[in-house]
Amino acid sequence: MAISPPSERIWWKETIPKTELIWILIAFTWGLVMFFMMIYWHGAGEQNLSNEAYRIDAAKFAQKAQAMVDQHQVREEGGMPVVHPPPGSDVYLIARLWQWWPILEFEKDQSYRLHIASMDWQHGFSLQPVNINLQIHPGYSMVVTLKPNQSGEFGVICNEFCGIGHHTMIGKIYVVDK
Ligand code: CUA
Repeated sequence: MAISPPSERIWWKETIPKTELIWILIAFTWGLVMFFMMIYWHGAGEQNLSNEAYRIDAAKFAQKAQAMVDQHQVREEGGMPVVHPPPGSDVYLIARLWQWWPILEFEKDQSYRLHIASMDWQHGFSLQPVNINLQIHPGYSMVVTLKPNQSGEFGVICNEFCGIGHHTMIGKIYVVDK
């Protein structure tokens, strides 16, 4: 255990060995490459979501979501409505303490405009297992245009700590074949 100072007083000013220099250079160059790849991937790699967001009034957003549920609910799961909105439509997903409401059911290869908004605090939309993540800020709706390319059951978990029930904030999205 070193609790006494280093024997060399100017310990930080030693010459850097050649191999270490080479590695620093490689790491730096790679860092630069990856930096520019971020810009490339955004466009060509289709890896980043192109997000839209707009200001909302939480109560009005909740009304729209409720209207969608009233119109397109197909069944219920444990007290939670399952909604099958028509392809191409605007779909509303509410984030609130501590649930994602309602359960959505999409058709494969159809496009939807998904609006996600928080009714209270900040939440994190994380679609699993495909790992699509969005931060859901109060007062705004995030909009994602999505076209599911695989059917199945997907989990929506909250990945932004939002209080005592954060770990129970789990939602569901179904994608069904037509
Ligand atoms: Cu919502 Cu954590």
